[in-house]
Amino acid sequence: MDNSDKIILMKKIKKAVLPVAGFGTRFLPATKATPKEMLSIIDKPLVQYAVEEAIEIGIEEIIFITSPSKYSIKKHFDKSKELEEKLRSLGKDDLIEKLNPSKFDDIKFHYIVQNEQKGLGHAISLAEQLIQDEPFAVLLPDDLFFSNDSCLNQLKRSYEISNASIIAVNEIELEDIHKYGVIKPGNIKDNLIEIADIIEKPEADEAPSNIAVCGRYILNSSIFNKLKDVLPDKTGEIQLTDAIKLLIDDEMVLACIYKGEKFDCGSKRGFVEATIAISLRDIEIGDEIKNVIKKI
Ligand code: UTP
Repeated sequence: MDNSDKIILMKKIKKAVLPVAGFGTRFLPATKATPKEMLSIIDKPLVQYAVEEAIEIGIEEIIFITSPSKYSIKKHFDKSKELEEKLRSLGKDDLIEKLNPSKFDDIKFHYIVQNEQKGLGHAISLAEQLIQDEPFAVLLPDDLFFSNDSCLNQLKRSYEISNASIIAVNEIELEDIHKYGVIKPGNIKDNLIEIADIIEKPEADEAPSNIAVCGRYILNSSIFNKLKDVLPDKTGEIQLTDAIKLLIDDEMVLACIYKGEKFDCGSKRGFVEATIAISLRDIEIGDEIKNVIKKI
């Protein structure tokens, strides 16, 4: 069977899960009343960047795993008819596309409430009813990716050839290793690595490599059974990394070395870095910001 046959047999990736139920403690007090995912880089909330990346690869349904206090995320993706009419009457039609982007018109948004923050793995497990036996994408909105060929598209292309669950990874500094899931690489071909093992937040001296998981995945539905077998870690959370570790025993799981820019906007440093980088490229304010930075 050649690759074109495989593509025909492959199930299309139509659904994306966006877990947004975390507390965002690193951004307190900003995240006391505002979800971390609604913090904006210039004028667009982090969560919208992720939704747009998903839609670009043909995702039709977005499943948010949210918490009861994060109603502003739903409000953000609901159409705002009233303000649209107001803008029209004021002749500010150019703002309407920003308010109610037409690319969201045909997208189905679902909201599942995670009542207790029992970890990323637990959050993903709540999507099982809606996913059933399809492959699906996972996007963590606090990781922001910029590349002409999006991070999710890079994963999708490899998934179409392999049909194996696949995770975006990048190389990181040893001093940061304890913050991430880290893989032990097996066979490597070009930018694809077969994962031999994966460890959540290892100490630097125990890390199997400097290759860390970043917030984009395409997973087969077999992950749901593994999530049921995962025991809570020492903080009481069910980790997605631990379910992937179990999945490796049964089937091949790949890592794709992401080619492009990545900002960890869940940390203050990454958030500020992204804000500076994106503002410097902004057609409206880029030059002004350059001058401002020079002055500082
Ligand atoms: P983080 O580890 O970044 O946690 O979660 P957090 O709560 O968002 O932020 P900090 O560390 O307290 O500052 C990674 C992703 O998993 C989601 C988060 O919303 C984020 O997108 N998550 C985490 C859940 O949806 N539920 C959980 O129980 C935990």
